Amino acid sequence: MTARASSPLWITGAGSGIGRAVAVAVAPGSRVAVSGRRGDALEETAALVRDAGGEALVLPLDVADREAVAEAAQRIRDKWGPALRLVIAAGVNTPDRSWQRLSMAEFESIVATNLTGVASVIDAALPDMRDAGDGVVVVVSSYAGWRTSASPGVAYSASKRALGPLVAILNEEEAAHGIRATLVCPGDVNSDFLAQRPVVPDADARERMLTPDDVARTIRFVLESPPHVVIDELVVSPVSQRS
Ligand SMILES: NC(=O)c1ccc[n+]([C@@H]2O[C@H](COP(=O)([O-])OP(=O)(O)OC[C@H]3O[C@@H](n4cnc5c(N)ncnc54)[C@H](OP(=O)(O)O)[C@@H]3O)[C@@H](O)[C@H]2O)c1
Repeated sequence: MTARASSPLWITGAGSGIGRAVAVAVAPGSRVAVSGRRGDALEETAALVRDAGGEALVLPLDVADREAVAEAAQRIRDKWGPALRLVIAAGVNTPDRSWQRLSMAEFESIVATNLTGVASVIDAALPDMRDAGDGVVVVVSSYAGWRTSASPGVAYSASKRALGPLVAILNEEEAAHGIRATLVCPGDVNSDFLAQRPVVPDADARERMLTPDDVARTIRFVLESPPHVVIDELVVSPVSQRS
């Protein structure tokens, strides 16, 4: 096992969907810190990690709370040493997503989670990564962050799209410190996230989508890539999204 594979992994959005699937996929022999707002959901993920042969640390937080994010990074440091691997999957949207319907309060709240929250988690871990000369950052954006369309909503699309430059500049500035970042842009994924759509997809439509495990497999590939490899961007979508 490489040093990187044995270093703690911190996952946000780990109480469900893609974040939970990543936690379980990497669990055997791993130390996985799981964050999100719902403590009970995180406990369920932690149990799955332990069942799969990993160690888990439950750190409930709102990624929009910068102090809580910094405290969580410290708790990981205290327990296991610094988290040199991040999977940032926490994200939100709203059904009322058009310019006509979206309030500015909702806009700010979506940006606080999907963009500023991502930057906060990276910011909390980056000094340790620089010191170690080692770090892997996986940022879960969206198909909406890859190609602009109105349907995902203005706040969601703008915040997810902004993660492209965030990751690109992280790679440009921090590669010299052994830090590698990847933007993952999934298409439709059959997860709880779909409940936030104005029209919630039915069972038939969900059946044709990616599963959280499909995306977790993609992210695991990034996490397990050797230290000299940078994967800037991966776009993964279901065939059904093109037909
Ligand atoms: N499903 C799709 O079709 C799809 C497509 C493309 C991209 N994505 C992206 O994939 C990521 C994961 O989504 P998913 O599909 O796995 O859906 P999900 O199951 O709803 O996961 C989203 C997670 O983010 C957490 N979260 C939301 N706001 C948070 C906050 N402020 N602080 C901390 N945690 C927060 C949620 O937990 P709590 O509510 O407990 O905080 C939840 O566990 C999201 O960033 C989403 O934008 C999803």
